[in-house]
Amino acid sequence: DGLNARAVAAGKKYFGTAISTTILNDASANAIGKNFQDFGQYTCENEMKFDATEPSRGSFSYGNADKIVAQAQANGQILRCHALVWHSQVPSWVTSGGFNNATLISIMQNHIANVVGHYKGKCYAWDVVNEALNEDGSYRSSGSVWGSTIGPAFIPIAFAAAAAADPGAKLYYNDYNCDKAGAKATGAQNLIKMVKSYGAPIHGFGMQGHMTTGQVGSASALVSNMQGFTALGVEVAYTELDMATPSSNPNFNQQATDYATVVSACKQVAGCVGITIWGFTDRYTWISNSAPLPWDTNFQKKAAYASILNAW
Ligand code: XIL
Repeated sequence: DGLNARAVAAGKKYFGTAISTTILNDASANAIGKNFQDFGQYTCENEMKFDATEPSRGSFSYGNADKIVAQAQANGQILRCHALVWHSQVPSWVTSGGFNNATLISIMQNHIANVVGHYKGKCYAWDVVNEALNEDGSYRSSGSVWGSTIGPAFIPIAFAAAAAADPGAKLYYNDYNCDKAGAKATGAQNLIKMVKSYGAPIHGFGMQGHMTTGQVGSASALVSNMQGFTALGVEVAYTELDMATPSSNPNFNQQATDYATVVSACKQVAGCVGITIWGFTDRYTWISNSAPLPWDTNFQKKAAYASILNAW
């Protein structure tokens, strides 16, 4: 029994976690991460990003990601692969290279061909484009080498390149603050339509789900938002779920309730294929001064664990 076992029993593909080199190197943490009953799916937290996989032009490095992939395969865990084209964690040779439109497109296509090709057949899904939208639903340009140099056309070009490199992977657009209906969720729906209008395939929408304890509200708002995406013919998943609460003054009971709300919403939507939490222990969370995950800093289960388990 466990989080993944319950998700699968509810008809989902997986309950999973982000995993990192840090976790692999911490035996106590890794023992939790390896438990297939709790985690049937892995996402590399940083190891497949652009700066990790192509640190200098045309020179690819896969060692850290390959170790995580090998552990997943040994345990039967499926992989969500993350992330090909994002404005962040891009090496300076790309952002400061002064490349023109045509050259940057070819750099992006070459990166996708190599990275997706390296993992061909191993990724259930790829986050092809990550965080391409502003909060008002418009396309991000400022701060994005892709958006500012190529414009929004980089998005369908990236999806077409990923499809060519691994026709079997589900290709996702992934973003945050799209958990409820609103300008940004509408922007994401427009983005999906735009990719399709270019004739490129898109199969999924990833809601990162970086949420705040006490601000989640009701499952029904999450359900109707997901239905807005599945109506477009794509599947959905929570890809980076965590539930921030200040470590100095945490509210773990409300956090448990809010996690259960998200699980219950995914359970109610047939097109919601699974949930990935962005790490599992508060010892290794990306959010400063926060305790957002179901295991505490000493690897003990918090109230959120039982709450997620019972919500499936
Ligand atoms: C975060 C990682 O957790 C951190 O370790 C890293 O320093 C920055 O990136 N959206 C995403 C993830 O798509 O890749 C980010 O992961 C969190 C926000």
